[in-house]
Amino acid sequence: MTSETITAAVSGTWTLGDLEINRIGFGAMRLTQSGEAFADDAVPSDRGRAISVLRRAVELGVNHIDTAAFYFSALRSANELINRALAPYPDDLVITTKVGPGRDPSGAWQPHATPERLRGQVEENLRQLGRDHLDVVNLRIVGTDSIAERFGALAQLRDAGLIRHLGISNVTPEHLAEAQAIAPVVCVQNQYGIGVRPEHDEFVRACGEQGVAFVPFYAIAGAGREVGASGSDSDEVLAVARAHGMSAAQVRLAWTLHRGPHVLAIPGTGNPEHLVANVAAGALRLSEDELAVLDSIHQSGA
Ligand SMILES: NC(=O)c1ccc[n+]([C@@H]2O[C@H](COP(=O)([O-])OP(=O)(O)OC[C@H]3O[C@@H](n4cnc5c(N)ncnc54)[C@H](OP(=O)(O)O)[C@@H]3O)[C@@H](O)[C@H]2O)c1
Repeated sequence: MTSETITAAVSGTWTLGDLEINRIGFGAMRLTQSGEAFADDAVPSDRGRAISVLRRAVELGVNHIDTAAFYFSALRSANELINRALAPYPDDLVITTKVGPGRDPSGAWQPHATPERLRGQVEENLRQLGRDHLDVVNLRIVGTDSIAERFGALAQLRDAGLIRHLGISNVTPEHLAEAQAIAPVVCVQNQYGIGVRPEHDEFVRACGEQGVAFVPFYAIAGAGREVGASGSDSDEVLAVARAHGMSAAQVRLAWTLHRGPHVLAIPGTGNPEHLVANVAAGALRLSEDELAVLDSIHQSGA
């Protein structure tokens, strides 16, 4: 089996609420520009290339795409690209979007949305994606304030049929408990990866015990965050990659999937070759010894 023939099915499946998906998915944040996301001077991506990456992802069995209405550059919108590339959508495709602090049309970040504005953000996603309901909506937050009012507003939109399932993003275990008291939560989307937030290991485990998917972002980019992958990986990660004839990025992704069957990957890329590599990372099985080495690098924050 070559990288070109490995499909996302090799990573196994997880069920978000009642929606079964392959554990290797795709994040749309990198589709709209090359280089740093959200940068004022970001160079818009090539439209045809972005559309072909999305179509290739689906051909490779990706059926979970993470997006947001605020993923846009001067000339590209991730939701518009998804709509153009994939509508009419395959029956098994799950599109997860996020609402909360958005960006205004000029690209400037806005504060937390009020409950009324959250409804507007949901409607904006429906319009851009061309759908009558959203599969999964994450309430993305900044800070540690109560999310009860905002999550409650989304729960009402779920009851009204505009949203099928709810998740939360950038949250603590306390936020998860607070949200679960209001409505079911199918996923937590937080920053996590080798060397990133080892103090969240227990939260990752706890999500699995509660049947909640844990969806790490920046699993490849790590400390590079919006800027992207730095390409500077530790000797240990590089040694494991070499042993499997794979890249450090693939090892970083595979390591997250080894944290539990409830961990889903949403690697972001605008590069067709990276897309194929990321899907193929789902086939990488790390040995106990390799996991021990990578876990210790993780704990050291390297
Ligand atoms: N909830 C939140 O607050 C939040 C925040 C950030 C992101 N997200 C979501 O999480 C997704 C994942 O984050 P991310 O896009 O930063 O993804 P990532 O997978 O952690 O890293 C993407 C970076 O790695 C590079 N890359 C991707 N695949 C590679 C490969 N096989 N080899 C070498 N380099 C590779 C990309 O550049 P190339 O484009 O050149 O491949 C880009 O620089 C986002 O797309 C978005 O959907 C959510």
